[in-house]
Amino acid sequence: MTSIRNGFIILCLIALSYAASLNNYEEAKIHLEEYIQNKKKDINPRYRPLYHVAPPVGWMNDPNGFTYHNGEFHIFYQYYPYDSVWGPMHWGHSSSSDLVNWKELPTALLPEEEQCFSGSAVSEGDQMILMYTGRRSTNVEPLFNESQYLAFSDDGVNFQKYEGNPVLTETPNNSPDFRDPKVWKYGNDYYVIIGSKTLDNRGRVLLYKSNDLKSWEFLTILGESEGDMGYMWECPDFFELDGKFVLLMSPQGLEPQGDRYKNIYQNGYIIGSFNYDTNEFVPEVPFQETDYGHDFYAATTTEANGKRYLVAWLSMWEVPHPEDTDGWAGQITLPRELSIVNNRILMKPVEAIDNLRDSVEVDGDVGPNEVYVFGKAVELLVDSDLEQKVDLLLEGRDGGGKVWLRWDPEVRKVVLDRGSDDIRQVEWSPIGSHTWRIFLDASSLELFCGEGEVVFSSRVFPLGGWKVTNHSPQSLRIKAFNLKRSVPE
Ligand SMILES: *[C@@H]1O[C@H](CO)[C@@H](O)[C@H](O)[C@H]1NC(C)=O
Repeated sequence: MTSIRNGFIILCLIALSYAASLNNYEEAKIHLEEYIQNKKKDINPRYRPLYHVAPPVGWMNDPNGFTYHNGEFHIFYQYYPYDSVWGPMHWGHSSSSDLVNWKELPTALLPEEEQCFSGSAVSEGDQMILMYTGRRSTNVEPLFNESQYLAFSDDGVNFQKYEGNPVLTETPNNSPDFRDPKVWKYGNDYYVIIGSKTLDNRGRVLLYKSNDLKSWEFLTILGESEGDMGYMWECPDFFELDGKFVLLMSPQGLEPQGDRYKNIYQNGYIIGSFNYDTNEFVPEVPFQETDYGHDFYAATTTEANGKRYLVAWLSMWEVPHPEDTDGWAGQITLPRELSIVNNRILMKPVEAIDNLRDSVEVDGDVGPNEVYVFGKAVELLVDSDLEQKVDLLLEGRDGGGKVWLRWDPEVRKVVLDRGSDDIRQVEWSPIGSHTWRIFLDASSLELFCGEGEVVFSSRVFPLGGWKVTNHSPQSLRIKAFNLKRSVPE
């Protein structure tokens, strides 16, 4: 009798503490939203983007869960709301119907026993499912455990973590580095790739399969460094594009080689072919950087209406974030539409970005040493004679950051120079258009050359809007627009 009664009491206690923990989580969410709304008032707007997604307050890194669900695009991101430096990871959340006008949604995931590290999303009818890496502290070396967790939503806004978490805990070699699941559906099955490493520290990507997202079968090593491709492959993505398969990832540990791999960590891709019967990915084109700028990491893609879109963190690890004294840090690149031409991914700004064009500020020939001033959000279309030098200085009207964009016809390189030898450069052979399309925001510059065969994404911190000077020995044909705001202040 007593044991039955004790058992009943224990059951009641378990039920009560479960309800209490649910309530605590829901309460923590409400407090967090109050905190965010309140804290927003303290933000210094000088470097806040007008048309790039950024956290309402606090720190952001990788974009996560980029997906198209019930007619809306969703972007989540690694988020620490309580300070503008990295901290215990939440998932921030924004949505958009056109990839240009974004609204902020409540924080989607809060850390509990696990930090909510990077991951992805699938849309399944009215349900959206997030798969992310739960990172827990442990008391045995290496003092952390990474395994894969699920969360579900019926409304695309409120997410419930799955009670059966974690759902995927094992790597074939017991490597503790096991993160950034990218999940997709093919036929009736789900597939996920996850970043990991070999026991002798070579980056690799693991492929698993499931029919319910909950129990997973290891299939194969989709890709692996042979020793020259870094010690860890983070944030893998895998997709079909123009008849090929692309393995996109963020390798850590590549040594600089000439003009290449000059950032602390890289982002790039391998083009190949893949067969769902054998699960074999056969690389055909070696690793190439996706973007040649200073600040581009953790790129991730989604597909909608037959088009493949990419976003990335427009920042980098281990660099100063001047905006952190303003109450926030980090932003996401403009979404780009992808295609493959001549064994390279071309990136173009999404078409709907044209809707941000406001006043035409310049339209005609701009002679040597001519100067124009703009607001904080600007698009420039620049045409030049590529047999002569181009030298364009873009700087703050009231000082602050400067950047030079150059073309040298001798070496046929595009150069992005932030001064003090902080240079990124790459050879460019236009395959079509010769136009430079330049997007300037309050703390960023994105340069799309030609058809998007060469793109640079870099942070710049001008003060008081932009000033552009043509230092080239030739006249440039420039069309320039001030752009409208498309993200919350
Ligand atoms: C991480 O924790 C899970 C239990 O949640 C365990 O099954 C797994 O073996 C752990 N991973 C490592 C590398 O110890």
